[in-house]
Amino acid sequence: MTGGPDAARTRPEGAAIRTQGLTKRFGARKAVDGLALEVPRGAVFGFLGPNGSGKTTTIRMLLGLVAPSSGHAEVLGQPMPRAGRSVLPRVGALVEGPAFYPFLTGAANLARFDAADPLTARATRRARVGAALDRVGLSHAAEKKVHAYSLGMKQRLGLAAALLAPRDLLVLDEPTNGLDPQGTREVRGLIRSLAEDGTTVFVSSHLLAEVEQICTHAAVLRAGQLVAQGTLDALRAGARPRIEVRTPDTAAAADVLRRLGLHVEPGGPGTVVAAVPAHDGGAPPPAAGPAHAGGPVGTAAQDGGTPPPEDLVAALVDAGVRVRGFTAEATTLEERFVELTGEGFDVAG
Ligand SMILES: Nc1ncnc2c1ncn2[C@@H]1O[C@H](COP(=O)(O)OP(=O)(O)OP(=O)(O)O)[C@@H](O)[C@H]1O
Ligand SMILES: [Mg+2]
Repeated sequence: MTGGPDAARTRPEGAAIRTQGLTKRFGARKAVDGLALEVPRGAVFGFLGPNGSGKTTTIRMLLGLVAPSSGHAEVLGQPMPRAGRSVLPRVGALVEGPAFYPFLTGAANLARFDAADPLTARATRRARVGAALDRVGLSHAAEKKVHAYSLGMKQRLGLAAALLAPRDLLVLDEPTNGLDPQGTREVRGLIRSLAEDGTTVFVSSHLLAEVEQICTHAAVLRAGQLVAQGTLDALRAGARPRIEVRTPDTAAAADVLRRLGLHVEPGGPGTVVAAVPAHDGGAPPPAAGPAHAGGPVGTAAQDGGTPPPEDLVAALVDAGVRVRGFTAEATTLEERFVELTGEGFDVAG
C-alpha cells in the first residue's frame, strides 16, 4: 500500500500544491489567469494579493469548490477536483465565510463537521471538538450559539473546523480577517506551531506584514496573475535599491545608468536618481543591451539582478563621470510588493 494516505503523509518530496495554467473566467473576465503555483511541502506559503486579485477564487479551485475554466491543479500530488474524495480528508480548509448553523452552539457545529468526515470515529468526537476549540481559544464559547459569535469568533470556529483532524495541508483564506490584534497574534502563533508539526500551510492575505511574520514562501497575485513567487529571502533579494548620484555630469551619468539597465528618473539639478524598472519580475531589463556584455557589471545586469552599488560607482567613474556623492537605499520588501501589485495594496499589519 505505497499509495495509502500514511505513505503520502510521510513522503517529504513533491509539492503540496502545484498548478499549471490555472484559470477561472467569470463571463469575459478572468478572475484567475494562468496560475503556475508551486507550494513545497512543509512550507508556510503566503498567498498575497490586494482585494479582488483572485485569492479566494484560486483557493476554491484548489479545494474543488469551483471548477477551473482551464488549467490543472494538483493537491498533495493528486489532481483536483478529480481526486477530491481521497485528498480532501487530508486538507483542512478555512474559506471566506465558513457556513455554520447559527442556532447551534460552536461545539455542536464542530461535531457536525466532524461527523461529515468519513475517517473519524464517533467515540472520540467530543475529545476532538474540545481540543480544536481549545487550540483556537474558543473553549469558553463552546456552548454559545454561533449567531451570538463575533466575526472573529466565527473565524476561529472556522479554524477549529479545519483542525479537527490531523492534516497534511491547511488552506486558510485570510484567517486573521475580523480578528482583533490579540486574536491575530494567536492565529499567527497557531499557524507557526502547526508548521512546526510538519503541516504545510497555504495562507492567503492582503497584509504583507502578516506574511513576513509567519511565512517561509510567498506568491504575489495581481489582477489574477502571479507576479512573483519564491522564498521570502528570494523575494527580499528582488527588492532593488534606488540609487542617487550627485555629479556635475548628469547627462553622462544618466546615460551610463540607463545602459546598465536602470530606470533613470527626474532628479534635481546635479542629481541623477535611478532604480531598476518596475514589474521586471526579475527578467533582464530591456535596456541592458549586448554592448555591455562583458563590461564590469554586464553580467549582473544580464542576470536580471541589480549591479551592486560599488560596481555602479566604478562604471560611472570608468565612463569619466565625476561623482560627488553616491547613495544606494535598499527598498524594503514592502516597497517591492507595492511596486509589484500597484497602488492600493494594503501593507499595514
Ligand atoms: N462567483 C463569481 N461571479 C463573478 N465574479 C466573481 C465571482 N467570484 C469572484 N468574482 C470576481 O473575481 C475576482 C476575484 O475575486 P476573489 O474573491 O477571488 O478575490 P480575492 O483576492 O479573494 O479578494 P478579497 O481580498 O477581497 O477577498 C473579483 O473581481 C471578483 O469580483
Ligand atoms: Mg478573498
